[in-house]
Amino acid sequence: MNEDVKQQIHEKYERELQRGERFWPDSIFKDAIMALALFIVLILLATFVGVHDSPKADPSDTSYIPRPEWYFLFLFKFLALYGQIPVLGKIEWIATALIPGIAIGILTLLPFIDKSPRRYYAKRALPLGIMGILVWGMVWLTLLADYPTVAPDGSSTPGILQAIAGIVIPLLAYIAFTVMAYTLKERAPHGILLTALGAGALMAGFSLLSMILYPLPAKETAEHPTSLVDRITAGQDLYSIHCLECHGEDGAVKVIEGVAGLEGTVISPISSRDVLYTLNDASLGEIIAYGRPDLGMPPFGKAYNPEGLTRAEIDYIIAFMRHTWDDRYEMPKIQPLFPPLAPNEVPSYEVHITPIVKRYCLSCHRPGKDSNDYFMDTYENILNSGDNGDMNVIAGDENSFLLQVIQGKPILNPDGSEAIGVMPPSGTLKPDVIEVFRRWVLMGMPRTAEEAATLTWPTP
Ligand code: HEC
Ligand code: HEC
Repeated sequence: MNEDVKQQIHEKYERELQRGERFWPDSIFKDAIMALALFIVLILLATFVGVHDSPKADPSDTSYIPRPEWYFLFLFKFLALYGQIPVLGKIEWIATALIPGIAIGILTLLPFIDKSPRRYYAKRALPLGIMGILVWGMVWLTLLADYPTVAPDGSSTPGILQAIAGIVIPLLAYIAFTVMAYTLKERAPHGILLTALGAGALMAGFSLLSMILYPLPAKETAEHPTSLVDRITAGQDLYSIHCLECHGEDGAVKVIEGVAGLEGTVISPISSRDVLYTLNDASLGEIIAYGRPDLGMPPFGKAYNPEGLTRAEIDYIIAFMRHTWDDRYEMPKIQPLFPPLAPNEVPSYEVHITPIVKRYCLSCHRPGKDSNDYFMDTYENILNSGDNGDMNVIAGDENSFLLQVIQGKPILNPDGSEAIGVMPPSGTLKPDVIEVFRRWVLMGMPRTAEEAATLTWPTP
């Protein structure tokens, strides 16, 4: 730096000093206004935007993928991209310690590399270029953090596009800066700034290309029931599908029936005091998550069964079990499973049969279960599927197999042996449920509420 420039800068400083802005109170006042504004913004954000509702933390869920706070997402994406590099990708410390270390080192050294006292941007091209590209790269890597690194079909194209945008172009830009700074002394500032602008545009371009070609994966919109009644209802639905098969509708099964591979297994009734008093919520949750593989109960936790239950869902089942069976808990008032029938009312598939089947039958009668071929998951399947499809529900016929077996009369082979046991195998349905099935079949299995409304159940 020559003496002239030093003199100029000194004069400018003196002028500013004369004009006089003092640290106290002038600067402090500005700072205080700014701090207050930020504080108000924070309060408004916390009041009106808040934090996303997410399920409870589950320390036993090994499939959980932790995500950092947003301000670290660029590092997170950088690690994901680095991990895709064939051999080097396995040596993690390069990406976790060495590269960030070098980057921070360069930032620390920047004031020593560039000691120019000037503020005019063209005179500060090198530090501005380095810092600009660095921040711009962080912005794009952050925006890309939620986008897939590997495409659903296994292709690594999105990762390659992202790596070009966030790593390769910045590196090339830095090399170009350095070369220019040391070779083209005179025109270097403009060369560096133009290179930085060009590189920035390319980074944005490649990032957008990756975002458009490989869009965000669809989010699972899981709803989290919050009220106790909603949680118990959710738990009962889950119980009906996953547990009823072996433990029965009321958790009282002592000998498993109608389940392939476990026929005749003796178990303790899970609605009994014995079980509910000895197991606290944590051990109940553990049994549901890990199962009792040695005794025949499969694991239900997501960690052991990709189609399994989340921690929250397991909690709903526990809430259902406690409030329904445990006499130390009180049952809140719950919506009835189906609207009670009026004396002449005919039930419909939509309003009455669907919830009943889901609660009492679907656990065994659905695709994927080995013990039988009668699927009750759709209207058509209830009418037609199964080994005895044409006999299960016959419009207007009291001898329909379904009506027989739910009323405790097994279907017999010609030689008198039992062909189909009573349904559900664990015990009889309540009279009002049986009445719904009877009216429905005898009146011709109406599908919609409108169809059912045109019919009248004859009272004797
Ligand atoms: C395929 C059959 C099957 C299914 C489905 C099943 N279990 Fe089990 N369960 C068993 C068997 C077998 C045992 C072990 C028998 C025993 O411990 O008495 C058991 C044990 C249990 C126990 C421990 C009882 C005790 O005595 O300690 C609980 C609690 C339990 N199950 C709850 C559930 C819940 C809740 C579900 C649904 C998410 C479920 N089970 C689904 C078969 C099953
Ligand atoms: C614990 C499992 C289980 C539950 C719950 C269950 N079933 Fe079954 N169901 C079976 C099995 C297994 C068969 C095969 C025949 C047999 O072994 O008795 C069967 C057969 C049937 C059949 C004869 C189907 C055919 O074409 O062979 C009908 C009808 C039936 N069940 C109706 C029902 C209804 C209605 C419900 C609900 C109220 C129900 N079941 C609940 C296990 C179950």
